[in-house]
Amino acid sequence: MKGNQDSMKYLFEPRGIAVIGASQTPGKIGYKVVENIVTGGYREKVYPINPKGGEMLGLSVYKQIADVDGTIDVAVVVVPAELVYGALEECAKKNVKFAIIITSGFAEVGNVAEERRITRFARDNNIRIIGPNVFGVYSAVSSLNATFGPGDVTAGNVAIITQSGAIGIAMIGKTKVEGIGLSAMISVGNKSDVDETDLLEYLTFQDDAKVVLMYLEGIKSGERLVEVLRKATRKKPIVVIKSGRSSRGAQAAASHTGSLAGEDKVFDDIARQCGVIRAEGIQEALNWCKFLADSPMPTGEDCVIITNGGGIGVLTADACEKYNISLSDEVADLKKTFEDVMPSFGSAKNPIDLTGGASPEEYDQALVAALRNENIDAVACLGCQTGSFDADRFAKIAEERYAQYRPVKPIVFSLFGGEEVERSIAKLKEKGIPVFADVYEMTAFLGALYRDYRNKSVPSAEPARVDIDIASIDAAVARARADGRYFLLAQEAQEVMRAAAIAIPQSRIAHSPDEAVRYAEEIGYPVVMKVVSKDIIHKSDAGGVALELVDRKEVLDAYEAIMRNCRNYKADALIEGIQVDEMIQSGVETIVGARQDGAFGPTVMFGLGGVYVEVLKDIAFRAFPLSREATLNMIGQIDSYPLLLGVRGEARKDIDEVANTIIKVGWILCSCDAISDIEINPLAVYDHGEGVKAVDVRILLRESEEA
Ligand code: COA
Repeated sequence: MKGNQDSMKYLFEPRGIAVIGASQTPGKIGYKVVENIVTGGYREKVYPINPKGGEMLGLSVYKQIADVDGTIDVAVVVVPAELVYGALEECAKKNVKFAIIITSGFAEVGNVAEERRITRFARDNNIRIIGPNVFGVYSAVSSLNATFGPGDVTAGNVAIITQSGAIGIAMIGKTKVEGIGLSAMISVGNKSDVDETDLLEYLTFQDDAKVVLMYLEGIKSGERLVEVLRKATRKKPIVVIKSGRSSRGAQAAASHTGSLAGEDKVFDDIARQCGVIRAEGIQEALNWCKFLADSPMPTGEDCVIITNGGGIGVLTADACEKYNISLSDEVADLKKTFEDVMPSFGSAKNPIDLTGGASPEEYDQALVAALRNENIDAVACLGCQTGSFDADRFAKIAEERYAQYRPVKPIVFSLFGGEEVERSIAKLKEKGIPVFADVYEMTAFLGALYRDYRNKSVPSAEPARVDIDIASIDAAVARARADGRYFLLAQEAQEVMRAAAIAIPQSRIAHSPDEAVRYAEEIGYPVVMKVVSKDIIHKSDAGGVALELVDRKEVLDAYEAIMRNCRNYKADALIEGIQVDEMIQSGVETIVGARQDGAFGPTVMFGLGGVYVEVLKDIAFRAFPLSREATLNMIGQIDSYPLLLGVRGEARKDIDEVANTIIKVGWILCSCDAISDIEINPLAVYDHGEGVKAVDVRILLRESEEA
């Protein structure tokens, strides 16, 4: 981490900057970049480079970078694509550390070869590339606006990493309108070298960036991103907007785990696992970023809603459920807190309804009472325009109390009404007070704040580990490879399960009636018996199957009957024996899977299994490895979780064994490079203490042998 911090520092705090392709023609990108750097207040030296030489914006233009005397840490490249390689050669001679390549015309239009060529050259010459195909870099710490976007950026404490240039440029303007100050804005473009993970890693430890906002499309090096996100979210809120779907998601669709994945669902679950605060759209993300940086953390989970309108109170309570915010229901405490201000017809149940007639003074009194109560961890104040509602007074109270109690606990506001109300909202917003015109927007922000709080308050746990007999797994895989197969046969898949001590239905092949009885007694009644013969495909049609055999006599009779039936069915059939199987008891049918995800590396899946899995899609994904706590959290995420807790007087199911199975399946995948997908469906889950059983197991291998 330290190495990355040291080297990245020069991108954000260069000791000198060159613009290769600086143009004296206003309107050209090469002019705008120099103009932004100069007018932005960058304090170190700026060197415009252009073979024509001359002067621009009060600066000498150098014919080539080699003519410059001082240190140049960053070069912004704004020459056409075919000249970029030459520009980098010049940079190499001058020991430039970073090239911000604004130029388009590389991989994004299919010119992959040229992009590889410049990237290789840069790597060989210790130049890190930002881009190509970017709008530049803004860094408040050095007052550097090396972009061709708007010239007047407000400095502040939100750092933005964007994969979309256009959205990034637009966000510079939009953040200004919203009153959001930026500590940095970086466009990553084609990410031929530096990517969002490198930047996030740096910004995690940069104090000026209090919040990081990432706009992502496709994920590159997802495994590393997961690792960095997990660390970053413990330090500061990381808000992510993710659009677009990578084609990689469809790759491993051969198994349920693959086809169910849907790139976005995998991303969503993994983002949640990493503590990312995912926004649906840009406006929502900006709403959060604006206030996340300055808001105090809640001190616990108990929130109180104060309202002068029953309706918006109820709407907010609904929103709290959606955004996972718990409302205090300490009725006695609430009654005591608000008794002095509550009219007899008001409600001291949360939401606290002061009713439409509440005066500003009464409202203030209630607000102060809530803020002073140590059992209340966050307060949502709602103002609905009623006959006696004074938006101006409300705004004054909000401002005063916010300033007074801001260091103590989070307060959020929502005002609803006409012009006056809108004016008050604008005024409060300008002062950095979290106020929203809609209770859902307000609650979504409070939800974001709570996610950040929970990320930081949950202790980090070590990944759970298990012992696996890797040699047995390798042997099963080697057999499949020798046969030219990319999947394991059922028996081989069962060997893999045994190698990780995952319970599978017991099964033996008997060659005599006595042997069948012995096996049945070892397995335990009831058992199922089936003929084993390559010559009899449809066993039931041949009378080669007997179910629910409960004792010795039934096993002996079944053995005789199966042999007789099969001989009658096909006299010359070679009968290898009779299989004695455990009769599977029904349990809750779940699905457990693991796969090498194209974007995120090893991932595990858990959900409601059985035949309806594709329809219900009640599944959760996680990047692996996982701690035990995180595995239990994943199990609890599915909607059908109550089935595992036991419904209508049923016993709780063996959730611990489900967690063990997920962890084991994850480690099988991670211990054997050749395996690409594992899927157990169904994994029957029995009552607590009675374990699970992997009824059907499918294992796929990677198509390339080198793996
Ligand atoms: N060193 C320095 N400057 C050089 C040079 C060299 N070796 N060779 C040429 N130049 C100068 C040119 O003379 C010109 O300056 P001038 O205006 O004084 O003549 C300047 O570099 C730019 O070259 P030009 O050929 O005029 O290109 P351009 O300005 O029309 O376009 C780009 C250059 C990079 C802007 C264009 O190729 C491009 O990629 N545009 C898209 C950018 C974009 O949208 N990026 C993604 C944003 S998200």
